[in-house]
Amino acid sequence: MKRRKLIFALTLTASIAAIAASGCSNPESSTPTEDSDAKTLVMATSADYPPYEFYETAKGEGKPIGFDIDIATYITKELGYELEVKDMDFNGIIPALQSERADFAMSGMTPTEERKQSVDFSSIYYDAKNTIVTAEGSAYKSYKELAGKKVGVQLGTTQAEEAKTKAEEVGGITLEPRNKISDLIQEVKAGRIDAAIIEDTVAKGYIKTNPDLVFTEIEESGELSGSAIAFPKDSELVDKFEAVLQEMKENGELEKLVQKWFEDYYEKQEGSAE
Ligand code: ARG
Repeated sequence: MKRRKLIFALTLTASIAAIAASGCSNPESSTPTEDSDAKTLVMATSADYPPYEFYETAKGEGKPIGFDIDIATYITKELGYELEVKDMDFNGIIPALQSERADFAMSGMTPTEERKQSVDFSSIYYDAKNTIVTAEGSAYKSYKELAGKKVGVQLGTTQAEEAKTKAEEVGGITLEPRNKISDLIQEVKAGRIDAAIIEDTVAKGYIKTNPDLVFTEIEESGELSGSAIAFPKDSELVDKFEAVLQEMKENGELEKLVQKWFEDYYEKQEGSAE
């Protein structure tokens, strides 16, 4: 008897949840419980990018956290979906969207013209600049100063693209592409490469935990920047996500998350490093 009551209560809650989630007012048409699993959206990301997406421990345990994860959580919740985050190399994100192994991607990804041929984008939710990360004592301010040097970039990124164009212009720069930002950082520390091109907010985070490194903003960079949400081409999620993103821009929610991850998070880290 007790058990039946419980089942009834669960079914009722599930139906209410399903109705609420679908925004549908016809209880007959909804089959509860089973349905709610189908409502999970898979987000592709490369969780090597603090404060956008990263693991709290160096070993990469637990689930990725960060600015992008919080935005995704807010939007999917608002739209009535569960969120599953899938970590992969940055280079694999667009193929994952194209083969629909992911419903959307947030990875500090810049909406370039080239990528727009393969995927759809939301509007830009955060802007950034590129920097040159080096060992302390050797600060380079421009690509010109990198002539004759080994320069690391993350494979498939706008940084890799920009560095390639500039290397051709300047001459004598050897590009060293890697899959993960963390690999670039390790190699600069070990002196195997002289510098790495990394965006400002992310460089700032890595330098906090690696005080033997420094970064300088690149004078001539900047055409390719900003982050947007990516979707498989013609996904019906584009407009739904964009509507909530606009809402977040207007109601201060986005600003709150900028404050949380680009200001408070670093202050907390600084505090704990002492
Ligand atoms: N904004 C750059 C791009 O779109 C770099 C993004 C790298 N993201 C990452 N999670 N590692 O290419």
